[in-house]
This record gives sequence, structure tokens and C-alpha cells, in this order.
Amino acid sequence: MTEQLSTKHLLGIKYLTREDIELIFETADEFKEVINRPIKKVPSLRDITVANMFFENSTRTRISFELAEKRLSADVVNFSASASSVSKGETLLDTVNNVLSMKVDMVVMRHPAPGAPQFLARHIQANIINAGDGTHEHPTQALLDAFSLREKFGELAGKKVAIFGDITHSRVALSNIYCLRKLGAEVKVCGPPTLIPKFLPALGVGVEHDVKKTLQWCDAANVLRIQLERQDVKNFPSLREYSQYFGINRALLDSLDKEIVVMHPGPINRGVELTSDVADSEHSIILQQVENGVAVRMAVLYLLAARRS
Ligand code: CP
Repeated sequence: MTEQLSTKHLLGIKYLTREDIELIFETADEFKEVINRPIKKVPSLRDITVANMFFENSTRTRISFELAEKRLSADVVNFSASASSVSKGETLLDTVNNVLSMKVDMVVMRHPAPGAPQFLARHIQANIINAGDGTHEHPTQALLDAFSLREKFGELAGKKVAIFGDITHSRVALSNIYCLRKLGAEVKVCGPPTLIPKFLPALGVGVEHDVKKTLQWCDAANVLRIQLERQDVKNFPSLREYSQYFGINRALLDSLDKEIVVMHPGPINRGVELTSDVADSEHSIILQQVENGVAVRMAVLYLLAARRS
């Protein structure tokens, strides 16, 4: 078992090895035990300062990173673009360099532009953690998703995972595909043809358009949100029609001759991609995903801090 990550940044799952992912999971196992103790804090990142720089909205990822940093005793500063000098025209590099001048060691960044964390990593010394870059990658979401499946199934190799919905505009989909394939799972995507990119089969991913057939095939269904805010053109006639043909509801689950695990990265469009009687059902591990996010992000921060130069 390797003792340290092969990289000093977490820019995407594409750049991690299978050994890196397994090391993150084993470290997260230990931190999950820590955060379930009455005293949830350890001194591992004392004297490290982390800046959470969010240029795009977030609930789960921002709070989860901040909690993870505080549980590790890091000093934390939070930056949100809407309340900063970005609105006065300051560039990304100037903004980040000004924050780093205040002796920040690690940057957690969400940005609407795909590739923004890679750009930063070429120009600054601090460790960069990608908290979602446009439609590209959301690596910690994929890690917490796979960690949650590993808790459920023990081993991901040979497991069948289907990703439903708006694949084209989803950074969660691409990171999940890289992560699950590296861990030996079989992956299919299912959604309207207009929301599935043509390059996916080259990543070893099956493509389906029939929801019931895909549910019958999979052990776990990761259901994604329709990202209307990223769609300039109409990719389907209406939300009502999308829900009718691609939404997952209780009747559909009950019609299967097997049980499956239901996941969603959030935020959920209830009644569009998932009905409440599925999202809140015994099949759903949506809140376990959120809980696991803190332990997984603690593991990522801890392991990257050990790679500081
Ligand atoms: N899953 C996820 O990235 O949610 P937020 O946008 O709320 O961070």
C-alpha cells in the first residue's frame, strides 16, 4: 500500500491512480471514525491555512470542505466571488495571488470555467483542490460517491453503476466515470440522446436511453440534476416530458425484480429526475453520501498537505 499521493494537487480523478484512490478511502475510513467520536477534532492540519474560493454557488461542497478543514484544526478563510473584487474586474490569477500573499497554504476552488484549477496549478505553489470546474470535473464528489458505494458493496470491481440524466453538462458524471472505471466497476449512462456526449464509449462506458432496462441492469443508480442554467438551447421539450420518460419514481423501482441503491449528488429537482418517494426511501443513500463527504475531504486535505513543497 502506497503511503502518499502521486500528486500535490487534486485537479481531477483523471490524474489519480487506483492506488491514490484506495489510499484516500483508507484514510477516510479513519477520519469517519474520528468524526463520529464525541470530540470530532484532530490536530493534523494545525498551522495550515486553507482558502475556500468559490466563484460559483455551492451548499454541500462548501460546507463539507469547511467542516473537514475545521475538524483537522486548519485555519480557514472563505471567499465568495459575489462579495469580492472579482466584480470590479480582477483576474483569477490576481485574486488568488493576493490571497496567497497572506500566507495561505492550500486553495479549494470552485469555478465556472473548465480547466481553471489546472491553470492555477501552473502558476502558484499552494496545493489546489478542484471543488468543481464548470462542466469538467468534480473529483471529491466522485470520491465520496465511490466511497459510499464501497461501504454498501464492500468492493466496486464488477459492480454495475448507471448514471442517469444530464451527462453533457455534468462534472459529477465525468469524475464518476473516471473513478468507477479505475476501481473496476462497469458503468452505463442513460438519458436523452441530446444530453449524452458522443465521446463516452471511448471511456469504456455503455450508453442506454431506456430507463427501465438500465435500472434492471444496474446495482446502483446515480441520478443527476438537469442543469438548465448551463443549457443555451432546448435539449428536450419540457421538464414534464423529461420526468415522464427519464424520471425515476417509486412505481418504476417497485416493478424491478431486484433492489438497487439510489444516489444523487444534490441539489435534487424533486419531481423531475427523482420523485420524493424514491429520494427519501430505504433505497436512497443520498444523505450518507453527504455525511461521507466530510471524511473523504478530510482525507484529501490531509494527504495533500503531506505533499506540500
Ligand atoms: N454536490 C454538489 O456539488 O453540491 P453543491 O453544488 O451544493 O456543492
